[in-house]
Amino acid sequence: MNEFNFADLRDNQSVTDTRRRQLLTGGFAIGVAGTPLTLWLSGCARLPARRSATFARIAPSTADTIRVPEGYRAGVLFRWGDPIGAAHLPAGEPAFKRDAGNTSTEQELQAGMHHDGMHFFPLASHTRESPRGLLAINHEYTDDGLLHVGGINDWSRAKVTKSQAAHGVSVVEVALIGGDWRVVRPSNFARRITANTPMQIGGPVAGSHWVKTAAANGNTVLGTIANCAHGFTPWGTYLTCEENWHGYFNQPNALSAHEKRYGIAARKSGYRWWQFDARFDVSKNPNEPNRFGWVVEIDPFDPQSIPVKRTAMGRMKHESAMQSIAADGRVVFYMGDDEAFEYIYKFVSRNAWNQQNRAANHDLLDHGTLYVARFDANGTGTWLPLVVNQGPLTAINGFSSQADVLVMTRQAADLLGATKMDRPEWIAVHPDTKEVYCNLTNNTQRGKPGKPATDAANPRADNAFGHIVRWREAGNDPAAREFVWDIFVLAGNNDSASTNTRGNINGDLFGSPDGLWFDAQGRLWIETDVSPGNMNKGDYAQIGNNQLLVADVATGEIKRFLSGPVACEITGITSTPDGRHLFINIQHPGETPGERSDPNHPMRYSRWPDGPHGGRPRSATIVIRKNDDGVVGI
Ligand code: FEO
Ligand code: CA
Ligand code: CA
Repeated sequence: MNEFNFADLRDNQSVTDTRRRQLLTGGFAIGVAGTPLTLWLSGCARLPARRSATFARIAPSTADTIRVPEGYRAGVLFRWGDPIGAAHLPAGEPAFKRDAGNTSTEQELQAGMHHDGMHFFPLASHTRESPRGLLAINHEYTDDGLLHVGGINDWSRAKVTKSQAAHGVSVVEVALIGGDWRVVRPSNFARRITANTPMQIGGPVAGSHWVKTAAANGNTVLGTIANCAHGFTPWGTYLTCEENWHGYFNQPNALSAHEKRYGIAARKSGYRWWQFDARFDVSKNPNEPNRFGWVVEIDPFDPQSIPVKRTAMGRMKHESAMQSIAADGRVVFYMGDDEAFEYIYKFVSRNAWNQQNRAANHDLLDHGTLYVARFDANGTGTWLPLVVNQGPLTAINGFSSQADVLVMTRQAADLLGATKMDRPEWIAVHPDTKEVYCNLTNNTQRGKPGKPATDAANPRADNAFGHIVRWREAGNDPAAREFVWDIFVLAGNNDSASTNTRGNINGDLFGSPDGLWFDAQGRLWIETDVSPGNMNKGDYAQIGNNQLLVADVATGEIKRFLSGPVACEITGITSTPDGRHLFINIQHPGETPGERSDPNHPMRYSRWPDGPHGGRPRSATIVIRKNDDGVVGI
C-alpha cells in the first residue's frame, strides 16, 4: 500500500515537529543509584531552527593527517593503549608502551584497539559551558601485527589473552578542562568490557538448548567481540553490536547448514584464539558460536552492571541499532546485517518505554517483534515479521520456537523472501521527519555467476562504491508494517565509464559509505570505509583517504568535511547535545596489506597520531570544534 509519497511527507513537517516537541518537553529525567540525570535529548529542545552546512568544503587528501575545514580544529582524545582512568589506579596508569609491550592485564585497563561505534552520555553536571559526560566506545577487532611485540609469527596463550583484552567496549569519563577535552583520570565510571566479561543472556533464547555449553547453563556468557556499530536507548543505556564474530571460531569438522549460513569455517589464517581457548574451538564447544551475533545492552552509568545480550533483537552480523520512538512510546531499532546479500531488520518493543522510572526499562528489549525488510520494485516496502508459527516459520521448516527463529534469524529471513541488500552498514533516523537512511557499503558479488542479480533497491552489479537507501514508514509511524523508499545517492565517480561505478553525487566524491548519523539539526553525516587496497587507484583516484562528509537531505548536496590519515577508516560519531563538540573515531590508520599489519612495512604506512617518533599507528577518538565555539557543521 502506498498512500503517500516523499513530497507529501515533507509538507507534513508541522505534524512531526509537534510530536517531537511532545517528546522533548516531557520533562523526563532518569535516575541511577538515586542520582538524577538530565536525559541527553533535553538539550535538543533549545536548538535553533534547521540549518544547512555552510563550512568551506575541503579537497580530497592523501596526507597522513586529519584535515578539517577552515575555522575548525581537531584534537586527539583517546588512543589505543591510553589508560581509561581506572578508579583504583594513579592517573597515568597503566601507561602505554610504544613497543606494544603492555601485558593483557594492563590492556584490560587501557583503551582497546580499533575504535568503532560510540555514544556520548552527558553526566548530571554537564552544562553548555562545562561539558562533561561518558563516552562508550566499541573496540571492533585487533590488528595483532601491531598489538604484540613480535607480531603474529608465534601466537601464544598470552597473545590470545591480550587480543581478547583489547576487544569489547571502553566507558570513559570525558570533560572540557582548561579549554581542552580530556579523559578524566581517575574516574568511578571508567570501565573496560572485554571478550571475557561476564554477561547475561536475555530474551527468548535465554536458557534454550542453543546456548547451553559444558561451562554455562544458557543464561550467562563470557564477553562480547567484533563490536562494530552501536546504538543507545532513550533510557540512557548503550547498545554494542556484534558483527564479524564468526571469524574467531574454528570448525575443522563438516559444517552444518546453520554453521555455513553464519560463516563458521575451518580457519587457516586470522585469529588463533581457538588454538589456546577451547571456547572458540567449535569441535569442542559446538554451541559457543550461538552465544555471539547479538546486540548487547550496557548501562554506562553503573560500572558494576552486568551487560545483557538481547536475543529478541535477532542474531546476525549486527551493524547499528538505531532508535526511533513510536507515538505510543514503543521503541524501534533499525539494524543492518553487514554481509553481501544480507538483510535490513527492525525491532519493535512490545511495551512503551517508561519515562518516569528508568529501572522499569531493564527488560524492555527482551519483548518485542523482529521484522525484516522487503523492498519492492514499485517503491513500496513491507516489514515481514520473524515470529514462530507465522507464515512459513513453522516446525516443518525447522522453527519450533521463537528461540529457533532468533538463533537462525538469517534462515528465517530467507524463508520470508526478504530483499538481499548490498551490505547494510549504519542506519540513521532524521530527528524530525523520522525518515530512515541506510548505508549499503558495497557488494562486488552482485550480478556474478550464481549470485543474485540487481534489483530496484540494489541497482548496480559489481557495486564497488555502494549507495544510500532511505525510507518513510506508513503514517510516519516507526512501528508501521509498510513503507515507501527510494535511493538517496549512488556513490562513485560521476565521470566513470562504467554504470556500475558511476555515481550520481551532487557534490564531493566518496565510496563505501559506512558510518551514518543525523545531528540534532537534521544534517546527515556520512563516514567512509574504502579498503586501503583500493585507495588512490582507478575510479578511487579522485577520492583520497577515507573521509567524513555532510549531506543536506533536502537538496541532496554532499560536502567533504574531514579527511583522515593514511589507510584509516572513519567511524564512530556522536556529539554533545548542543552540537558544539563532535567526537569521531579514526580506525586502523596505517593498516598494511597481508593478514596483519607489519609495523615496519615501508609502503602506505601511517605514523598517526603520535608522529614519526611515536612508534605504531593507533586508532583513536578525536574531538572536532569550531574555532568560534559554534555548532560543528554550520
Ligand atoms: Fe565493522 Fe560493517 O563494519
Ligand atoms: Ca565497513
Ligand atoms: Ca562499519
